[in-house]
Amino acid sequence: MVRFTAPYLETQCQERRGTGTKEQSMGLKTPNGCALMVSEKHVEVPVPTPKRDEVLLKLEATSLNPVDWKIQKGMLRPFLPRKFPYIPATDVAGEVVEVGSGVKDFKVGDKVIAVLSHFIGGGLAEFAVAQESLTVKRPPEVSAPEGAGLPVAGGTAHQMLVSSAGVKLDGSGKPTNILITAASGGVGHYAVQLAKLGKTHVTATCGARNIELVKSLGADEVLDYKTTDGAALKSPSGRKYDVVLHCATGIPWSTFEPNLSDNAKVIDITPNLSSLLTFALKKLTFSKKQYVPLLVIPKKDNLEFLVNLVKEGKLKTLLDSKYPLSKAEDAWAKIIEGHATGKIIVEP
Ligand SMILES: NC(=O)c1ccc[n+]([C@@H]2O[C@H](COP(=O)([O-])OP(=O)(O)OC[C@H]3O[C@@H](n4cnc5c(N)ncnc54)[C@H](OP(=O)(O)O)[C@@H]3O)[C@@H](O)[C@H]2O)c1
Repeated sequence: MVRFTAPYLETQCQERRGTGTKEQSMGLKTPNGCALMVSEKHVEVPVPTPKRDEVLLKLEATSLNPVDWKIQKGMLRPFLPRKFPYIPATDVAGEVVEVGSGVKDFKVGDKVIAVLSHFIGGGLAEFAVAQESLTVKRPPEVSAPEGAGLPVAGGTAHQMLVSSAGVKLDGSGKPTNILITAASGGVGHYAVQLAKLGKTHVTATCGARNIELVKSLGADEVLDYKTTDGAALKSPSGRKYDVVLHCATGIPWSTFEPNLSDNAKVIDITPNLSSLLTFALKKLTFSKKQYVPLLVIPKKDNLEFLVNLVKEGKLKTLLDSKYPLSKAEDAWAKIIEGHATGKIIVEP
């Protein structure tokens, strides 16, 4: 068997040893006495072998999401990561180089986009295995970085709008006023474009530097979140929002409330303890204004739909920056800063 090797950004559970080591100062203590840490060194590992229902990909592009660093920081414990060492990142584009014995829809040489399991990771490497059920073909009109941007960020925007808000993306739904916070980010920039395909009225928030860009994605009105009106989420045209797609962090219910129509839904992808208490209160009091915390569930159909929109020129992936895999730690630092405009890409 030929064994390839792959450099990767290493996240691993190491036994704590001594005091004041670099590992300790970077790491988090876990209940079993290990330190969860990111190593900035690149190491060589064997290429993974695809199981029956998996494909092995030679990666062409990987996009980062904030959840990747949140896993590394231990914010999703005790659920993630499930095993160590853990290679971060899940959203990939690549070429199929080997197929598992049960794979029906893909063959060696196919260009694809896939979302890897958050439990296993694997995206910051030269090779990764993906489940057939979460892999789709990448047409030549969609570049590898554009495709790699889609799975989590595009999938979340799609799920918020279609499944949670009930917006029809063919524009056949009723008129709806939508507020999208952090519209310049990975999720937000897709959400603005999808909401406009649904012919809704979009008010968006972003930093001053991105106002023109977010307008160019189709937003009808854009608020600088650092101004007084922006922080208050006030629509410049005086609209009340029927739907809020909340992609920023740290905005309390009391800020949303005065801006909402009677039956509004606030769909929140960054819930915290206080917003979950709001959720419970709204349920208990049968409030017409609803608070909806959301966790994305990646779906092949949705990813195929988004890839097709990119192919048809109806959706674009804004690329914040691209880094070679040898500089993955710089991409990692950039996603942690939280100031990406669109997607951060790593290319082997
Ligand atoms: N629940 C789920 O299933 C799910 C799925 C995907 C993402 N998420 C979460 O959703 C959040 C957004 O994800 P993302 O990928 O879009 O992040 P991202 O790409 O890192 O977002 C960065 C962008 O947000 C803007 N921003 C930050 N704070 C803002 C504020 N208060 N108002 C307006 N804009 C603001 C920044 O603008 P400036 O640079 O100008 O500050 C930057 O352009 C993250 O916390 C992520 O973990 C959750």
